[in-house]
Amino acid sequence: MTAERYPPTLPAAWYRDPEIFERERRAIFARNWALVARVEQLAEPGQFVAETVAGYPVLVLRDEEGGLRGFHNVCRHRASPILEGAGRCEVLRCPYHGWTYGLDGALRKAPGFEAGADFDPAGFGLLPVRVAQWNGLVFACLDEAAPDLEAWLGDILAIARDYPPLAEMAFVEEETVEGAADWKTYSDNSAEGYHLPHIHKALNRAVDPHKTAIAPHENGHFVGFDVTYRDAHGASTGHGHWIYKFPGLLLHFSRESFNLERVLPLGPGRLRLVRWFWFPHAAAADTEACRSALASSTAVMREDLAICEAVQRNLEAGVYRAGVISAEREPGTAFFQRLVREALESEEWAAPWST
Ligand code: FES
Ligand SMILES: [Fe+2]
Repeated sequence: MTAERYPPTLPAAWYRDPEIFERERRAIFARNWALVARVEQLAEPGQFVAETVAGYPVLVLRDEEGGLRGFHNVCRHRASPILEGAGRCEVLRCPYHGWTYGLDGALRKAPGFEAGADFDPAGFGLLPVRVAQWNGLVFACLDEAAPDLEAWLGDILAIARDYPPLAEMAFVEEETVEGAADWKTYSDNSAEGYHLPHIHKALNRAVDPHKTAIAPHENGHFVGFDVTYRDAHGASTGHGHWIYKFPGLLLHFSRESFNLERVLPLGPGRLRLVRWFWFPHAAAADTEACRSALASSTAVMREDLAICEAVQRNLEAGVYRAGVISAEREPGTAFFQRLVREALESEEWAAPWST
């Protein structure tokens, strides 16, 4: 009984161990969908976005027929990245020795190589990656056997239907921050509201604790926070849904705005947060109000990142081996840690080129 009410945390060593990080890359990040672009970045044929998902270089683009395609951003000659950043191109030309691929990934030119018995260009196309979109967001998945995107999102699809679709909103801002915290330190924190009164004093005043429900969802592997906002007199002012989706995506739905945060692991104990903000078109025109809403959101993220970096330093110091979680007060963190354990215990994912 005690063990169920207060399960142990993951071992501290898992938050700093390069071998664990390698296993997480293969068993978690390569097997889940990752948000890589907004669909308007890929509106025209040839438009592309090059991204890195837990160290895996990925390329998504709009092909000549108007379809979305994804590839490993790895030249089949000697492994150079083909493209960087985002932009538009007619062909995919490797900057190292000039091998050129079509937007369908087929090898078109390999200077100095002659097709023949000992070299078949058809065997050297770019390695494909699955791509799919939902609500104007483009996701990639390295695992052929993973469920499709909608199944992966699970109950999030129904929650999102209560809020304006992104197509009806204006994309306003991208913010990128790097931090000295493991992606799991940040996710442990993102999955619970137990810290709210201590770490987020202003946000805590704006959220009604009696009208907040935190629920781990098995269908979609996410933690949902159904929140009601209140004014200084305690009157309800609006409603929102915060979601922490395993392994590294935060979604914040409300009528007044939508924002998300991609939690990108850079290595054990290091992460990058990429934050995107949308406002309804009318609200987006009021730059002052948008700036103020962005500043509040950034302040909350800074509060989270600061405590996560402090925790990370102690996880690395070696005194703390493991702790306990309250299944009642931190159900989302217990759920997240269970998913990490299950993934790492499962069979490792084999990359398509590793035979
Ligand atoms: S590595 Fe791409 S052309 Fe050589
Ligand atoms: Fe927080």
